[in-house]
Amino acid sequence: MYKLTIHGGKALSGTIKTAGSKNSSLPILFASILADTPITLTNTPHLSDVSTTLRLLMNMGAEFILESDNALFVDSSKLTNLVADYHLVKTMRASILVLGPILAKYGRAKVSLPGGCAIGTRPVDLHLKSLEELGATIEVKNGYIYAQAKTLIGAEIYFDQVTVTATENLLMAATLAKGTTTIHNAAQEPEICDLCNCLNKMGAKIFGIGTSILVIEGVESLNGVSYSVCPDRIEAATYLVAAAITSGSITVKNIRYQSMRAVLGKLIEIGADIKTRNNSITLDMKGRRPKAVNIKTSTYPNFPTDMQAQFTALNAIAEGHSSITENIFENRFMHIPELARMGADLTLEGNTVFCRGVESLTGAHLMATDLRASASLVLAGLAANGTTTIERVYHLDRGYETIEEKLKLLGAQIERVQD
Ligand code: UD1
Repeated sequence: MYKLTIHGGKALSGTIKTAGSKNSSLPILFASILADTPITLTNTPHLSDVSTTLRLLMNMGAEFILESDNALFVDSSKLTNLVADYHLVKTMRASILVLGPILAKYGRAKVSLPGGCAIGTRPVDLHLKSLEELGATIEVKNGYIYAQAKTLIGAEIYFDQVTVTATENLLMAATLAKGTTTIHNAAQEPEICDLCNCLNKMGAKIFGIGTSILVIEGVESLNGVSYSVCPDRIEAATYLVAAAITSGSITVKNIRYQSMRAVLGKLIEIGADIKTRNNSITLDMKGRRPKAVNIKTSTYPNFPTDMQAQFTALNAIAEGHSSITENIFENRFMHIPELARMGADLTLEGNTVFCRGVESLTGAHLMATDLRASASLVLAGLAANGTTTIERVYHLDRGYETIEEKLKLLGAQIERVQD
């Protein structure tokens, strides 16, 4: 197992490039099942979640070729095994995205239930209910979802709760359904727009992209295309916070700042000087200590839950008192006790973390727990005095491409070492 060691206290400076989005790549790879010919995906990130998706698709009969550094040729057009096995699904909850596409294309699917995870119970009831509303028969037994539908029929679907992957699962299934499906209260995340744009390029008819009402006119078939995945806004924002927490100055390239407004607003509030250009953002703290900010996580376009842990680390060393309320996942606070071990003054009450900013943190031996919590520990380590060691780095590798290499480019003293 690998761990990271960080010698903190150095202001970051320099320029890095954001990778393609994890949360776009995964649904689009699953959407390849819907196509009758192969797809080529460019700007794909090197992440273990992408490898897990490819392993799952290969296990079902797909083939892929890594054509160049970040271009993937994927042929999922003729699957031979319609079972998504527990051993593959359990490592990545987004594997549930296989359900809609196989059901729509082959009329049946057997997919392992993903189970709970560190940040909460994360049920899949809305995925199943909405597919049933398209006419699927679904049974859950022995930890597996058994789904069948001779023909999926378009319907009016209303989600009680805004959910990203259930919106994606349903809209993928609806592309090959008979008639029109309308999804009310759909999630509006940029990664959903990316999936819709890719599906439309493949021949789907999706309208209302980027709004809470998606209208999908079912088509007979879809074709493989070449598609470039959008940049990863969460990765980009994490590096901007890394610069802010170290009172540094960096430029992040290959971004779409328009999808990052809520986070950029908070970075301006902490005292950062932000300059956006066509496809880059420069953050400059001008050597200043950040000011504490209050945050409430919510659905897009509001402040993303995937940046909550990173801003908690930032508030830990910021000037002043703050509160951060987590409204999406009930247990997304695994980073709190670890940050407290570094000297952070944090109190958790219900779903709100109250923070009194301290002048500095001290390096400590820490345990990574989930993807974004782990990122917050790296950020805290960059700001802390002394050495921080973070174990279980595999959590970070799910969503950050070579994190230590990018941070080194910005002048951080960070190493990946084997136990
Ligand atoms: C996706 C993102 C994840 C992000 C999250 C919220 C991917 C691969 N992952 O996760 O990075 O943190 O959106 O922006 O895109 N819920 C139910 N029943 C369901 C589905 C969801 O109760 O059937 C609840 C969840 O428990 C949660 C809320 O709805 O409380 C929102 O979750 P959801 O948007 O579905 O998150 P994911 O799609 O799993």
